[in-house]
Amino acid sequence: MALLTGFNKINTAIFISGTGSNLKSLIKFSKLKKSPITIGMIISNNPKSKGLKYAKINKIKKKVFNFNSTISEKKVINELKKDNINLICLAGFMKILSKEFIKNFNGKILNIHPSLLPKYKGLNTHVKAIKNKDKYSGCTVHLVNSKLDSGKIIDQKKVRINKLDTPETLAKKILVQEHKLYPEAIIKLLNL
Ligand code: GAR
Repeated sequence: MALLTGFNKINTAIFISGTGSNLKSLIKFSKLKKSPITIGMIISNNPKSKGLKYAKINKIKKKVFNFNSTISEKKVINELKKDNINLICLAGFMKILSKEFIKNFNGKILNIHPSLLPKYKGLNTHVKAIKNKDKYSGCTVHLVNSKLDSGKIIDQKKVRINKLDTPETLAKKILVQEHKLYPEAIIKLLNL
């Protein structure tokens, strides 16, 4: 894929809004010799994101933008371009990016979503899967396009839903799989 140029690692930005457990797993992955990415920046729309602590711990640049306006998004685009960011991984990022933003990084934005897309786009995926008595749920990594949770699917992992599962227990089980899925999906994307 065009993203992979020579032997340099791909300069990646991770966007978060909350806990940042996927961010933590991606940082761990980026430090492996075999990893194709290096994490150059962590961006959040929420100054209170717990995940921002991983920036300091790992000496990664962090920036907070509110993403509430075209001007704010423009600032993000400038920041990313200035630092030659070539891949963006949304990891629990709860803002919807504008068409204009996506156009600037076309084919270079990945998202992780806690359901087996195309099932259950949007919020409350675990509640929906349990309510519908689904036998399985899971997680998906997909490319971001201008329609919510609808871009090309790169990879998925399935998780069995047990009778006693609550949205909380299911979320925990799926998160464990998310941490494995995201690095695998990045490798897959780069080899497409
Ligand atoms: C993850 O389950 C991720 O799939 C989900 O938020 C959680 C973030 O956890 N993302 C979405 O729902 C996006 N629509 P984390 O902050 O611990 O990585």
